[in-house]
Amino acid sequence: MHKIQLVVLSVVVMMAVGIGWVVADEADDTLCIPMGTLILEAPDAVEAQRAEVEFPHSAHFDFNCKTCHHTWDGESPILSCSTSECHDLTEVPKEGFEAGDAVRYYKSAYHSACIGCHKEIKTRNKALENSMASLKTDLQRTGPTGCTGCHPKD
Ligand code: HEC
Ligand code: HEC
Ligand code: HEC
Repeated sequence: MHKIQLVVLSVVVMMAVGIGWVVADEADDTLCIPMGTLILEAPDAVEAQRAEVEFPHSAHFDFNCKTCHHTWDGESPILSCSTSECHDLTEVPKEGFEAGDAVRYYKSAYHSACIGCHKEIKTRNKALENSMASLKTDLQRTGPTGCTGCHPKD
C-alpha cells in the first residue's frame, strides 16, 4: 500500500470514530428531524372526503423551522400541529363559535398555512412576470394550490 493511501485511510477511520463519538455523546438531547415526505391525514374523528396529503418536509427546509413550527422555542421538542389547544378541533363548532376557533380547526390551519404560502409566491411570480424584473431574476419555485395537487384523486 502506498503511503498516501494509508494517510487517506487513517483520516477516514478517524472521521468515522469521531462522528460515532459525537453521535453517542449527544444522542440524548439531539432533535430528531423527520426528513423526506410526511403523510398528513385526517384525525380518526374525521371521515375523510379527500385523499391524504404527501408533504415533502425537507423540500421546505429553505424556510426557517419557525415559519411553520411557530410556537417552537428553538430548543424543546417540536410538537405536532394538532396538539391539544393548538389546531386540535376536528370540526368548526356549530354553536358558541369564538374568535380563534377557525384556526383551531385543523383543516383551516393546514389550508391557510400550506395554500397561503404557495399562493403568495405564485402571486409574487405573476407580478414579476408582468414586469421587466423577470428578465433578471429566476422565479421562485412554489407548491400546489389546486385541490388535486395535494389530495390526488384515488
Ligand atoms: C397545499 C396543499 C393543499 C391543497 C392545495 C388543498 N389541501 Fe385540503 N388539506 C391539506 C392538508 C395538509 C389537510 C390536513 C390533512 C388531511 O386531513 O388530509 C387537508 C385537509 C382537507 C380536508 C379535511 C379532511 C378530509 O379529507 O375530509 C378537506 C375536506 C380538504 N382538505 C379539501 C380540500 C379542497 C376541496 C381543496 C381545493 C379547494 C384542498 N383541500 C386543497 C392540504 C391541501
Ligand atoms: C413548511 C412548513 C414546515 C417547515 C418549514 C418545517 N416543518 Fe417540521 N413539520 C411540518 C409539518 C406540517 C409537520 C407534521 C406535524 C404533525 O404531524 O402534526 C412537521 C413535523 C415535524 C416534526 C415532528 C413533530 C411531531 O409531530 O412529532 C419535527 C421534529 C419537525 N417537523 C422539525 C422541523 C425542523 C427542525 C424544521 C426546520 C429545519 C422544520 N420542521 C421545518 C411543517 C414544517
Ligand atoms: C412558507 C411557505 C410554504 C409553506 C408554509 C408550505 N409550503 Fe409547500 N412549498 C413551498 C415552496 C417554496 C415549494 C417549492 C419547493 C421546491 O421545489 O424547491 C413548495 C413545494 C411543495 C410541494 C411540491 C414539492 C415538489 O416536489 O414539487 C408540495 C406537495 C407542498 N409544497 C406541500 C405543502 C403542504 C402540504 C404544506 C402544509 C403542511 C406546505 N407545502 C406548506 C412553500 C411552502
